[in-house]
Amino acid sequence: MRILGRGRIKTVLVTGGAGYIGSHICVELLDAGLEVIVVDNLSNSSQEALNRVEKIAGKTVLFYQIDLQDKARVKTVFETHTIDAVIHLAGLKSVGDSGRLPLKYYQNNIYSTLVLLEMLEQFSVKNIVFSSSATVYGDPATVPVTEQFPLRATNPYGRTKLMIEEILRDVANSSHIQVVLLRYFNPIGAHESGLIGEAPNGSPNNLLPYVSQVAMGQRDKVLIFGGDYPTIDGTGVRDYIHVVDLAKGHIRALQKIAENEGKGERCQAYNLGTGHGHSVIEVINAFEEACGHKITYKIVDRRSGDIAECYANPNLANQKLNWRAEKTLPEMMKDTWRWQTKNPKGYKSD
Ligand code: NAD
Ligand code: UFG
Repeated sequence: MRILGRGRIKTVLVTGGAGYIGSHICVELLDAGLEVIVVDNLSNSSQEALNRVEKIAGKTVLFYQIDLQDKARVKTVFETHTIDAVIHLAGLKSVGDSGRLPLKYYQNNIYSTLVLLEMLEQFSVKNIVFSSSATVYGDPATVPVTEQFPLRATNPYGRTKLMIEEILRDVANSSHIQVVLLRYFNPIGAHESGLIGEAPNGSPNNLLPYVSQVAMGQRDKVLIFGGDYPTIDGTGVRDYIHVVDLAKGHIRALQKIAENEGKGERCQAYNLGTGHGHSVIEVINAFEEACGHKITYKIVDRRSGDIAECYANPNLANQKLNWRAEKTLPEMMKDTWRWQTKNPKGYKSD
């Protein structure tokens, strides 16, 4: 077994590890020689994802189907294992649902985090990496976005991210706990094996799952939300990042806190993005290249709450974490298409 940071991190608890991003992180952790424990209530995921993680990595994941809000059961995990670091992904993530069901979002996302942090304090776990989001920048005044930009959220989901960042900052200032906040831009793509990927329940909210379902013939056409933004072609521009690059960023973040233990920043935020923006039309064109046929689309009204353009300045993560997104947009499309064609019904096909 390999150990990160001069022997400081060997067992990592991944909350939400059965989900889209979490499953890819588990593969990278296992590949790095770490022991992986997953706590997930499977509210938006399938245990099959973890079976496949094990298949890819050739190693096992210890899985607990537990809701993080269930303090007694979470405590048993901390009593049973010596945990060196936590990667905290568990949470609800639909912007639209969060507007309709704000209390559900505050309860699930915030309370889960409080339970988790209480365990970190009680069991002297020193390191936590949190899945934050570019959504904390709201509608940025300019692009690219640096970590110093003002923070403001425009919906309850985003506010849970912002509140959790603030909670973590307070905890870092008042305890032994070191925090890394990773602000993800737009994760897409899938593991190159085609075994794990994004498997949304119901109608997808995000662009890529929707485009790939249209490409599969499962839906008629892509509705492009707005063609009159002040962007290259009038459609929204985002910083799409391959989920495997994103997952690798977590290993670098763990390395950084393990090496820094006791010195330096106690709470640091990093943008995880490529530094390049692509429009919706550019994404559709790139997907057509990957799947080999035309994708029907129609430009409709803007989606409420959407912004014109958002992409990262990833220099801080490049320099301090020695991390850089490497995969190109065509690779992201190719891997999404492979996953979609091998698993037309997501994990349900088994
Ligand atoms: P996902 O829904 O696939 O994964 C989240 C996982 O958390 C799911 O497996 C779900 O079952 C689990 N979960 C939710 N509430 C839980 C609870 N109370 N107890 C235990 N498990 C619980 O989503 P994802 O895309 O993999 O996102 C992971 C994290 O990254 C989330 O925190 C999300 O907000 C954040 N994020 C995602 C994106 C994105 O575009 N996918 C962008 C920025 C940030
Ligand atoms: N879009 C369409 N049609 C669709 C879906 C999306 O035109 O069917 C457009 C959007 O208008 C936007 C772009 O495609 O211009 C990307 O939209 P997504 O919904 O895929 O992603 P967002 O940038 O809106 O938001 C995502 C996550 C948020 C997260 C944010 C930043 O959903 O939770 O990335 O990380 F906060």
